[in-house]
Amino acid sequence: TKKIIIAIDGHSSCGKSTMAKALAKELGYVYIDSGAMYRVVTLVALRNGWIENKVPSKEKILEGLKDIRITFKWDEEKGMNTTFLNGENVEDEIRQLEVSENVSPISTIAEVREEMVHQQRENGRNKGIVMDGRDIGTVVFPDAELKIFMTASPEIRAQRRYLELTEKGQEVNFEEILANVEGRDKIDSTRAVSPLKKADDAVVLDNSHLSRKEQLEWTINKVKEII
Ligand code: C5P
Repeated sequence: TKKIIIAIDGHSSCGKSTMAKALAKELGYVYIDSGAMYRVVTLVALRNGWIENKVPSKEKILEGLKDIRITFKWDEEKGMNTTFLNGENVEDEIRQLEVSENVSPISTIAEVREEMVHQQRENGRNKGIVMDGRDIGTVVFPDAELKIFMTASPEIRAQRRYLELTEKGQEVNFEEILANVEGRDKIDSTRAVSPLKKADDAVVLDNSHLSRKEQLEWTINKVKEII
């Protein structure tokens, strides 16, 4: 069977990475979480004080960008990717609400996107890859053989994120998470550079009322039509 590129885009917290991971596992493909890369840049900016009141200093971030090396390592036991910043495991830190609250403004910076897109394309050179994000089907891999646009209602997405964070022992507030999910949707969909939108040739998957298993089956069927 031939190896393909699978692009999964969609709104914040709608289960893209959960699905992408399961799909990659099923197919024996590489999984890359493009959002984790924007989160790493945000983490570095926060640590260095390059963001004030949610406003990133573009100059400082672009200056610092060249010292950021992002790598992933597949954790077989957990069935997930671990994200590294210059060799340091930052997987937990990049998922914290503070990073979520500052990542969207940073991802509006064109030069940051250019660098991330470059690295993402490198990862896809040999195909056999599932990548999730906001602009994978539209910008990163416009020729991807399968493009999926995932979504679910904001309340359902916030509820899922709430459970995920509380299960990790983080103290979080539902309203705050809902505001974050809706706020990120707004910035991501309206930004000038590579806004979140469905690629013309993407298939839509609204998973508001689908189980993980049902979503995976739906997607595997789409893959089978191609390979
Ligand atoms: O996917 P995740 O929610 O972790 O992504 C975090 C943020 O990174 C998004 O809200 C969006 O602002 C940005 N992002 C992006 N382009 C991508 C992936 C993520 O702009 N391909």
